[in-house]
Amino acid sequence: MSSEVRRAAQILRTGGLVAFPTETVYGLGADASSEKAVARLFQVKRRPADHPVIVHFASSESAFQWASDIPDAARKLARKFWPGPLTLILKRSALAKDFVTGGQDTVGLRVPSHPVAHELLLVFGGAVAAPSANRFGRVSPTTLAHVREDLGSDVEVVLEGGPSEVGIESTIVDLSGATPVLLRPGRISKQDVESVIGKIGEKTASSPRHSGGLERHYAPRTPARMVPVHALDKEISKGKSVAVLAFSRPDQRVDFWLRMPRDPQAYAQKLYAALRELDGAGCEQILVEAPPDTAEWAAVRDRLKRACEQG
Ligand code: TXA
Ligand code: MG
Repeated sequence: MSSEVRRAAQILRTGGLVAFPTETVYGLGADASSEKAVARLFQVKRRPADHPVIVHFASSESAFQWASDIPDAARKLARKFWPGPLTLILKRSALAKDFVTGGQDTVGLRVPSHPVAHELLLVFGGAVAAPSANRFGRVSPTTLAHVREDLGSDVEVVLEGGPSEVGIESTIVDLSGATPVLLRPGRISKQDVESVIGKIGEKTASSPRHSGGLERHYAPRTPARMVPVHALDKEISKGKSVAVLAFSRPDQRVDFWLRMPRDPQAYAQKLYAALRELDGAGCEQILVEAPPDTAEWAAVRDRLKRACEQG
C-alpha cells in the first residue's frame, strides 16, 4: 500500500478533503458520515448545500448498507457493473444523513474501479462522499493538473492516478421509484442497463433533483455552440475569433482547432481536457461539430449540450 494513500485516508478520518482519481473523473472526497467534513466539501466546491452527493465504497456489500428496500434490479446491476462507472439511486438507510442526500429520502451509491480509488476506500474503511473535483458549474477534471488548476490549495492532498479512462461522469440509474429511470447517461449506456434489467425510462421533469441536470453545469467560460458539420464553415466565416472542436480540419483558417476521435469512447475520454484547452485559447466563441445523433453517442452529446447551454 502506498504511503500517500495511507496519508490520504488519515486526512479523511480527521475531516479533511482528498481529491482522488476514479475511472470516470477525479473526485473530491470527504468522510460521508461527518457533517462537518461534507460541509467543508460543499464550501470548497461552492456547491449549494441542498444538492445530493454520490457516496463511494470499496464493495457492493458496504454500499448496500447505506440503502434500504434494495430491489433485485439493483443487485443485478451491481453484480454486472460494480466496481465500475455506474451510480445507483436507492432509498436510503439511516446511515445516509440529510447532509449527503440533500434532504431527499434517496442516496446515490457507487463502487469505483480505479485501483487508487479502491485502495483509498479500502484503507479508509468508510463511505466517501465525492462530487467531481471542480468548482461548481465548471468542466469536470480528468487529470491531477485539472484538479490543481480548479481547487489550488483548498484541497490538502490530490492523489495521482493518470488521465481518467472513461473521461465523463458515471451513468446514474434511479431505482428508488416504481420504474427504473436513467438520470445521466455515461460509458455504461441505457442499452447496457436494459440488457440486464429490461426496459427503463428516461428522465422527466419530476425525476429527482440532481445538479448534473442543471443548465450549463459542465460549461466552459467561453460561449460554446454545437453545429452540424455542414453549418460549421458558415459559422466560422462570420468573422468572430473561434476555437473549433471537430472530427476533421475546417476548410478555412481558424484561430484554434482540435481534432476529436470518431470513436465515442475515445471522444469521451478526451472531451473535458479538450473543452479546457478550447476555453484557454481565448477566442470569442467555441464551435463544436455535432457528433452523430445515435445511441452510442448519447453520453457525449449530453455533456456537449450542457457545455453549449448559455447561462
Ligand atoms: O463519475 C462520477 O459519478 C463522479 C466521480 C467522482 O465518482 N462523481 C460525480 O459527482 O459526478 P457529482 O456530485 O459531480 O454528480 C453527482 C450527480 C449529481 O447530479 C447529483 O446531484 C446526483 O448525482 N445525485 C446524487 N445523489 C442523488 C440522489 N439521491 N438523487 C438524485 N440524484 C443524485
Ligand atoms: Mg460534477
